[in-house]
Amino acid sequence: MITLRRAAVVAAVLGGAIVAAGSAQAEPSVERGQYLVDGLAACGNCHTPRLPDQSFDTAKYLAGGFEFNELPAFQAFARNITPDVDTGIGSWTEQEIVDAIREGHTPEGETVGPPMPVGMYNLMSDDDAMSIALYLKSIPAVFNEVPEATYNIPKGEYGPAPGGPTPSPDDPVAYGGYLATVAHCFDCHTPRNEDGSPDFSRAGAGGFLMQALPNGEAVYSANITSDEATGVGGWSDEALARAIAGGVSSNGHILFPIMPAAFFDNATDEDIAAIIAWLRTVPAVSNDIEQVDWMAALGMPPMQNAPELP
Ligand code: HEC
Ligand code: HEC
Repeated sequence: MITLRRAAVVAAVLGGAIVAAGSAQAEPSVERGQYLVDGLAACGNCHTPRLPDQSFDTAKYLAGGFEFNELPAFQAFARNITPDVDTGIGSWTEQEIVDAIREGHTPEGETVGPPMPVGMYNLMSDDDAMSIALYLKSIPAVFNEVPEATYNIPKGEYGPAPGGPTPSPDDPVAYGGYLATVAHCFDCHTPRNEDGSPDFSRAGAGGFLMQALPNGEAVYSANITSDEATGVGGWSDEALARAIAGGVSSNGHILFPIMPAAFFDNATDEDIAAIIAWLRTVPAVSNDIEQVDWMAALGMPPMQNAPELP
């Protein structure tokens, strides 16, 4: 698959159309929407179903069906967000798509439930949200009926999106923080309270159960706070960039692909650098998380660690 970064090199030669998509823009565009959906917003991480080996079923790009079984709390299925009129969002206006993503309400008056990260997308800029809607309108329609969800917990309530412009890259920490919100890092990397709500007093400290494995082990999110001993405080920029956009921990462990590194790899180097600048400002929280050989647990050959990168 050609990544956007590689495509950008081609575009630079052809006149730079795609290069512009990676920077904050004045006008919403399909290109910026694709840059975010296939990149930092990682919509397909949930909305494109996976094959048994954890790779994506590309014939069903964004067509939904991926199951989140959190019973007794809820059983949800990522919905079909292709423009199919019968089973997707083909009859929605662009503004209706924006409102569903940022405010969690659909034109039918339903609330969009978890784990759709509406709380994070709530802070998306007007241009970025509209760019995503424009892109979703432009992709091929896929007929794919998705089962109804069951929620035994409140779905959540979201206020009006504050909107506004995309922050300027001139302030890398603020810009990186905005991108990290769109990339919903804290949605996965923040531990939960007993009632299942995120414990933001320990934001980024990891330990949120991501995937139970057949051998009784489980993958938990990692501690990405600036703690030197148990977080990523001691890592070089290079090691952080390899983890975020390459899916490899500093000790060489291959990260379980629920960590959307394959999506983040489509972000520009500048955007990844801004996220790293922001990540370094996340207050240190001590929380030791064990990595597991999820490959062996899934019946694949045991993990061959990549080289260490301090
Ligand atoms: C962490 C998983 C996850 C991510 C990431 C995610 N979604 Fe969702 N999304 C869901 C789930 C699950 C639902 C269904 C919730 C329900 O049934 O109430 C949903 C519902 C929706 C809906 C409502 C569709 C309908 O028919 O009601 C839209 C629109 C949507 N997502 C768009 C997006 C876009 C665009 C992105 C990326 C910017 C995205 N989602 C990222 C999990 C996710
Ligand atoms: C959908 C969930 C999810 C999202 C979103 C996510 N991560 Fe992760 N991330 C994980 C999981 C799970 C792991 C651990 C995987 C493993 O142990 O194999 C991980 C691992 C990491 C690691 C490696 C840490 C270590 O000690 O090896 C870094 C760094 C990281 N994530 C940074 C980020 C950043 C920065 C963002 C946002 C730009 C982000 N992650 C978004 C789930 C997520």
